[in-house]
Amino acid sequence: MKVLIVKDYEQMSRIAADIIADIVRRNPSAVLGLATGSTPVGMYKLLSQFVEEKKASFKKVRTVNLDEYVGLGAEHEQSFAHFMRTHLFDSVDVAPNNTHIPNGLADDPQSECDRYHRLLQQLPQDVQVLGLGSNGHIGFNEPDTPFDSTTHTVRLAESTVRDNARFFASREEVPQTAITMGISEIMNARKIIVLASGKIKAQAVRAMVEGEVTPACPASVLQNHADCTVIVDEDAASLLTGNYR
Ligand code: GLP
Repeated sequence: MKVLIVKDYEQMSRIAADIIADIVRRNPSAVLGLATGSTPVGMYKLLSQFVEEKKASFKKVRTVNLDEYVGLGAEHEQSFAHFMRTHLFDSVDVAPNNTHIPNGLADDPQSECDRYHRLLQQLPQDVQVLGLGSNGHIGFNEPDTPFDSTTHTVRLAESTVRDNARFFASREEVPQTAITMGISEIMNARKIIVLASGKIKAQAVRAMVEGEVTPACPASVLQNHADCTVIVDEDAASLLTGNYR
């Protein structure tokens, strides 16, 4: 793993946006694996700016998102599909048909998982962006998810429901289940960028970077990836003991 410790959220977002923009400039039809959550919002804002300033184009880019809540349609304000439109897709020149995200309203979630798995086989990510759950989850792969998992439905951990309640009017409204890309499909990406910011992530960052590689901390599997860059701010890095400067 390459670990970059940066001053703050702003710098983390800028470095990540520069890496993505560079990949898209080299390969205009790159497949970008994208994440939701508050962490990548700054990166998406910068990418939108780059496109507006004609420093990058997403015209031929394809995107695959990590996950979606079961039971929320693309029009629901808390759905990840809505999040992606608001924070990126509506402000860049990507073709809506080239953006992919699991369908939270699928009648048969298992066949939706199978469909998404096949899609990922056709569209392996040139780069996968990841945030980090405070319990070490990536996508919605909660602790103890097997490393060889593919797209599956998951019952969210108590702590995840609690963490994500801030986006909903009340905790009762937070869906309990989601469809997530599996760990093996995340690991299949050619390159991985993990972003983490704030003290709330410090424990998970330490377990991911310096802990044992174990399903108990799903993000620790990233230690086995050939090209994984972790970009963390000072607060998120505050429990790391190694020398990464
Ligand atoms: C959600 C998403 C993850 C994300 C995590 C962290 O649970 N499924 O992909 O990384 O939240 O969110 P945040 O960036 O808001 O801390």
